[in-house]
Amino acid sequence: MRRTQVAIIGGGPAGLLLSHLLHLDKIDSVILERQTKAYVLQRIRAGVLEPGSVKFLRDAGLGERMDREGHAHDGSWIAWQDREAFLINTKAHCGKPMTSFGQTAITEELYRVRERDGGRIVEEAENVRLFDLAGSAPKVAYEKDGETATIECDFVAGCDGFHGVSRRSIPGAAIKTFERAYPFGWLGIMSETPPVGEVIYARHERGFALASLRGPALSRYYIQCGLDTDIADWPDDRFWEELKRRFPTDIAQRIVTGPSIEKSIAPLRSFVAEPMRYGRLFLAGDAAHIVPPTGAKGLNLAISDVFYLERALAQHFRERDDRYLESYSDMALRRVWAAERFSWQLTKLLHVFPEDDDFETRIKLSEFDHLKASRSAQASVAEQYAGLPFED
Ligand code: APR
Ligand code: PHB
Repeated sequence: MRRTQVAIIGGGPAGLLLSHLLHLDKIDSVILERQTKAYVLQRIRAGVLEPGSVKFLRDAGLGERMDREGHAHDGSWIAWQDREAFLINTKAHCGKPMTSFGQTAITEELYRVRERDGGRIVEEAENVRLFDLAGSAPKVAYEKDGETATIECDFVAGCDGFHGVSRRSIPGAAIKTFERAYPFGWLGIMSETPPVGEVIYARHERGFALASLRGPALSRYYIQCGLDTDIADWPDDRFWEELKRRFPTDIAQRIVTGPSIEKSIAPLRSFVAEPMRYGRLFLAGDAAHIVPPTGAKGLNLAISDVFYLERALAQHFRERDDRYLESYSDMALRRVWAAERFSWQLTKLLHVFPEDDDFETRIKLSEFDHLKASRSAQASVAEQYAGLPFED
């Protein structure tokens, strides 16, 4: 394996989806993944797909399990302490539902189809290094089983997430980053219990809470927690008690508790790297941007990046036309910044910040009341939650 057309760094959703789409366009690629497949598949991540993501995955031949196990829902509920919750009805405003379908299942499907189609995925590829990115013949080197291998390629796709090597391989003068770290995280659990049935975001003076689902017998819940939170201090009973305190009573009464099968804490961050390209290296997914999970945008942005990048690479190899490659970063970033703004706004509204004084709290309550009363305000949130259409 000395050469490929596209070397993909990272075998998460972005890298696997890109490899699958390139295969459909008869373009050769190889994925270099630092971890094992089992490690990648044990990650518990996002769970809500925009209508555009659902259509795109279905058109790419990845719809069967999603249509069987996914849960279409009209939209998301927003609850506020001591007030009645209301529905942001994405289906009514945008014509299509949102779909709850876990990233793990999507990643499992992507591994299945890549293995079915003979895709080349190098697991446990260590010390990946990128060379000659600014030239026309980039190279990628990695170590496996004590051997060093080098792959020549036409392009490198950096799909290696926020902590990957790709973005860090871009010279500092050629990249600008934008960042906001939030003073809290999300403590999340998965439980084999019947879910409340809807996606419900709740703000309470004790902090944010979220009810979601992965299926009729698999629930996903989160509560806002301090950055110094030790998961050992959160046995299931304490989690369930705190979760219920943060929802209005009528919703809390519907929460079915049970043993957690997964429990983890994730920090919240907004991050964008510009441009999403350096020479023959193109960044996609978390390698280029991070959103707080409040808007459920992370996976959906990875999907739209990959749509734009694969279309550009296919145009290059098929027509020797680089117009989409030239416009990739600007086009992807328009959708990224729209999602960053929406996720940041929703995070500010629904979380308790240390600096929230009485005035700020009243302003946020007034924003909630306006959103609850105004159909046009709800339409605006619904279309952002559903996501911008992919650009031609
Ligand atoms: N060399 C090879 N592989 C690497 C390296 C490296 N130096 N660094 C990271 N990786 C791998 C990781 O092990 C991971 O499997 O790159 C992959 C990146 O996958 P993700 O972090 O899942 O990012 P992405 O594919 O862009 O998917 C975005 O994942 O984090 C969530 O919220 C995010 O839902 C969104 C989705
Ligand atoms: C999830 O189901 O994990 C989920 C749902 C909505 C979000 C974030 C995560 O905003």
